[in-house]
Amino acid sequence: MPRTTTPTPLARLLVARIRERGPLTFAEYMRECLYHPEHGYYSRAETRRFADYYTSVDVHPIFGRLVARQLAELWVLLDRPAEFWAVEAGAGAGRLSQHLLDFAARELSDFYRALRYVAVEPSPARRAAHTASFGSHRKAGRAVSAAEWPAEIPAGCIFSNELLDALPVHRVVREKGILREIYVAARGDELCEQLGALSAPALAEYFRTQGIELLEGQQAEVGLEACAWIEDAGRRLGRGFVLTVDYGHEARELYNERHLRGTLLAYHQHRASEDLLAAPGEQDLTAHVNFTALDLWGRRAGLERTGLVSQARFLLALGRGNEFADLYDPGQSEVERLRARLLLKNLIFPEGMGEAFQVFIQHKGIEHPHLTGLEPC
Ligand SMILES: C[S@@+](CC[C@H](N)C(=O)[O-])C[C@H]1O[C@@H](n2cnc3c(N)ncnc32)[C@H](O)[C@@H]1O
Repeated sequence: MPRTTTPTPLARLLVARIRERGPLTFAEYMRECLYHPEHGYYSRAETRRFADYYTSVDVHPIFGRLVARQLAELWVLLDRPAEFWAVEAGAGAGRLSQHLLDFAARELSDFYRALRYVAVEPSPARRAAHTASFGSHRKAGRAVSAAEWPAEIPAGCIFSNELLDALPVHRVVREKGILREIYVAARGDELCEQLGALSAPALAEYFRTQGIELLEGQQAEVGLEACAWIEDAGRRLGRGFVLTVDYGHEARELYNERHLRGTLLAYHQHRASEDLLAAPGEQDLTAHVNFTALDLWGRRAGLERTGLVSQARFLLALGRGNEFADLYDPGQSEVERLRARLLLKNLIFPEGMGEAFQVFIQHKGIEHPHLTGLEPC
């Protein structure tokens, strides 16, 4: 599709690179769009908060507070280790860490004393933002910021909110019974799609492992990076949990006839578009997460499936114990409390984020753990 807008600086760089070295896999293209050190969407500071998207952590601190309650329970399940590592992957500007740490310090003091919070974020601009918000927690030795995650996590939980949907994916299509890869090539000064042979045997292996066969003409994403990520997480974790919040599906649903064109979307100023090659570096690119793949690749590193529930069910199960008293801050007026209740609905109602988002939990080195967040409602 011809584009009339001026190419972004990253589009110019990519066209020049493709002319010199040939087409890029979509995963290479997506990596540049999101993480190019200068022009990548996530490399820049969040100058305009909520400009293109917002996540559950932006809705109300209750999300972080209930995650804190779940982590405190995991600490108990692990027999209250003296150090509980809470490793937040993709911490971004630090809103979840701030809500969680403030709440733990105020309401969960025994847990807080054992807490070793590591906010992992590759973007220097976003690391600077969350470090600034840590304040007293950093001084108390409870929280640090890191570009990469720790080599070893003896006991604790690795958790993320909307990280895995932002990891680069390959794109494939089934043509005449054969899997072909969708590359990003250049025509004149413009980026375009081009079909070719698979860039790696791992792409076909990915579908075989999950017993998935695409329909004729169906396009799909392959999240090899998410598979590598969960294996790495499992290897680094001694005992504990991996808790993933994201939108996504089990493989049989992700690759069914409802997703014939895959799930990749571009976001700019809260509008979704299928024009994935438009404005590289200036729009967010996301693909739905495959929880079956996380389960299967996690097993290779000793992770077992604890459960998969909607975000609505997870938050309701954790909040109902005290009738969502954690929603409120001391001294709030009735109007403020009403507003807090309305915001909560955004997080739990099916038409809001409640059913679109899922919570997937895996465990290692502990037998059949029972988690409040996974309890039936
Ligand atoms: C969609 S944002 C979500 C940010 C935050 N969790 C939130 O809910 O607002 C994804 C974040 O993950 C970071 N990220 C990307 N790859 C990562 C990786 N391999 N490890 C840790 N963080 C990563 C990005 O830089 C970005 O800040």
